[in-house]
Amino acid sequence: MKEFNILSNVIFDTSLKEYFSQSSYQKAMIVADPMMVKLGFVETISQQFHQAGKRFSLFAEITPDPTIETISQGVWQMNQFQPDCLIAIGGGSAIDTAKGMVLANYKLSPTYQKPTLIAIPSTSGTGSEVTSFTVITNGQDKKPYVDQCLVPDVAILDVELVKTVPPKITADTGMDVLTHALEAYVSTNASVFTDALAEKAVQLVFENLLLVFRQPEDLIARQKMHEASALAGMAFTNSSLGINHSLAHAIGGIHHLSHGRINAILLPKVITYNAQSANGAKYQQLAKHLGLPAETAAEGTANLVLAIELLNEALEIESSFSCFGISEATYQNAASQIAEFALKDDCTKTNPRSVTAASLAAIYQSLY
Ligand SMILES: NC(=O)c1ccc[n+]([C@@H]2O[C@H](COP(=O)([O-])OP(=O)(O)OC[C@H]3O[C@@H](n4cnc5c(N)ncnc54)[C@H](O)[C@@H]3O)[C@@H](O)[C@H]2O)c1
Ligand SMILES: [Zn+2]
Repeated sequence: MKEFNILSNVIFDTSLKEYFSQSSYQKAMIVADPMMVKLGFVETISQQFHQAGKRFSLFAEITPDPTIETISQGVWQMNQFQPDCLIAIGGGSAIDTAKGMVLANYKLSPTYQKPTLIAIPSTSGTGSEVTSFTVITNGQDKKPYVDQCLVPDVAILDVELVKTVPPKITADTGMDVLTHALEAYVSTNASVFTDALAEKAVQLVFENLLLVFRQPEDLIARQKMHEASALAGMAFTNSSLGINHSLAHAIGGIHHLSHGRINAILLPKVITYNAQSANGAKYQQLAKHLGLPAETAAEGTANLVLAIELLNEALEIESSFSCFGISEATYQNAASQIAEFALKDDCTKTNPRSVTAASLAAIYQSLY
């Protein structure tokens, strides 16, 4: 049975202040990226609770790529405080931390009544505000957990939050959006519904990402990237992803590089690999949709890959992993472990072309 759901209530064109001034929550726990505290957004929310004589508790111990340890700290604080709403504000790492806290409580008690989960993204990247995914790191093992209980009840898309994202993080997170859309599009679980979302997200990225990278103050382009991120999230929460993400999780867990940047470096190789599959012909469709020459499947795929390589170059994204201070021996020695982690990753199940540990290792090894 195939199904399609968009479960989050998506609020857009509304400021945080406006939303929380009208809300009826009594006790809020805020899980925030420290940058959101520094920029005053947490204060904006907490003031609304203060003024109404309501209580709130802040957890801001967020670090990139949430770990089991951070999540455990958050669970302890949440269970002491017993909030009726859990507000996650920040990038994917803050939102995934809050989701990890919810998941941990469900694992401890299947009858757990979760607080209303409100996700407010401050990067235009992961789409975590609308997905059933959370990505958690345990030692070197970074992997996604997928559960319907993780879909935020409310997603607030407020462009004010992404105004301050520096160009490098804009590039990384924007390429994450593109990877979500592309993997959703060729997933073995893709449908007409996810295709529509993915096509729109890809188009918005090609039209706006470079603009935002070069002109960070362009709020219209920022808004479009923020919307693209949620659209791609809606696509992949339904269709899941593929080996680009399986490899990115494994590489991130071991080499600790930015998630979006890893995805961007892998994309051209992964598309070329997946082109040899039943769904591979869809790259031609997408190339046509982008107005690229695509008379044949081969031409369409080649031009899509070229367009991505040119976009990476313009965004100053490296074309291999040799530029990050990792020695060649360290890099190559990690190949079998990375392939093993990636093979077991849930995202591999919906990759359009079957893989083995050897084929995954070969993709990884070719990128030094
Ligand atoms: N749950 C999902 O569906 C999903 C999907 C893809 C990726 N992920 C995971 O999400 C994490 C990555 O999230 P991310 O790419 O959003 O990065 P992030 O949350 O790790 O943030 C990256 C950096 O950007 C800073 N930052 C965030 N917002 C800012 C702002 N408005 N202004 C200035 N700086 C800001 C943060 O402080 C941090 O230093 C990874 O762990 C990845 O695996 C989750
Ligand atoms: Zn991603």
